Amino acid sequence: MADLRDAPLVLGIETSCDETGVGIVRGTTLLADAVASSVDEHARFGGVVPEVASRAHLEAMVPTIDRALKEAGVAATDLDGIAVTAGPGLAGALLVGVSAAKAYAYALGKPLYGVNHLASHICVDQLEHGALPEPTMALLVSGGHSSLLLSTDITSDVRPMGATIDDAAGEAFDKIARVLNLGFPGGPVIDRYAKEGDPEAIAFPRGLTGPRDPAYDFSFSGLKTAVARWIEAKRAAGEEVPVRDVAASFQEAVVDVLTRKAVRACKDEGVDHLMIGGGVAANSRLRALAQERCEAAGIRLRVPRPKLCTDNGAMVAALGAEMVARGRAASDWDLSADSSLPVTDPHVPGTSQGHGHNHDHVHEVAKDNLYS
Ligand code: KG4
Ligand code: ZN
Repeated sequence: MADLRDAPLVLGIETSCDETGVGIVRGTTLLADAVASSVDEHARFGGVVPEVASRAHLEAMVPTIDRALKEAGVAATDLDGIAVTAGPGLAGALLVGVSAAKAYAYALGKPLYGVNHLASHICVDQLEHGALPEPTMALLVSGGHSSLLLSTDITSDVRPMGATIDDAAGEAFDKIARVLNLGFPGGPVIDRYAKEGDPEAIAFPRGLTGPRDPAYDFSFSGLKTAVARWIEAKRAAGEEVPVRDVAASFQEAVVDVLTRKAVRACKDEGVDHLMIGGGVAANSRLRALAQERCEAAGIRLRVPRPKLCTDNGAMVAALGAEMVARGRAASDWDLSADSSLPVTDPHVPGTSQGHGHNHDHVHEVAKDNLYS
């Protein structure tokens, strides 16, 4: 192992959705992972309310940073850099993190690194299993995204192989949980119920798996509708809905397609490592089936522990540390939040380095969010 004292000490801030995450890493070693979640405040709405999330980030930011520094046992002045999620995510929520990161970096005289949330979900696995092999195939499955990505360098080269054409995988879990009256977020509770159900009880459709369908794209909206109709029909007939079997059969349909396509992409591209990240990677059946199918195909599977799969600050710090280690330029002070930052931009340098993002863009996005 490299001398830890030489590895960059980086603090990462994540505020793209409802988790205020602050993590501290030294190279690929995790030192602190403090998360304050506003999920309970959104539960009664059945989804994340952007304004509520932004306010909660503002309140949680300074205490969560203090907690992370204490947990890591380091002083802010010792940091080699501050990384922050610059996008994609909720515009107002991202702005809180970006503003905080700028304030701390400026006050401490440290370099600032704007990073991509999706690349961070991949890079976090370095904290668990060491340096990412190059290339790595990544299946990224969260509440907002479902993509297959091929990366040869997580700080500069992330190539999309396929993505969902409608709902994200996590979104499908959340919607089905709502139909079953299981609360929000849906993933963890469906995971629990499914453990006691029969995954073969109901044959739900596998989206985009026909011979003429795109090999690496996903679709979950047909599945969602099929499950909702099945439940409605049961209720209309006055029959009890077998919640555990529905949860297990629905979950199986999702993870079957995800793992099948991910393994196929690895084989087609000759890549022998698959990484799975994002909130849905916390799913126990996805982890088990991926392990089974990867083993059968001679592919090494890397999935971080569940706490590092859902949104957190350590993943941002992990990518920031990789940026520092690889000598990437720090971001400019005019770094802006970009709610629709493309997955192909792992690193956001700021406008004066020719990136083309500007403040007007943030204001436009923020307005869109308010009125949509
Ligand atoms: O990555 P994440 O924390 O936030 C986003 O960037 O979206 O992912 C949140 C999503 C939610 O849709 C949640 O229901 C899902 O991840 N999730 C799960 C599990 N834990 C969280 N889905 C399936 N099984 C789980 N155990
Ligand atoms: Zn995420």
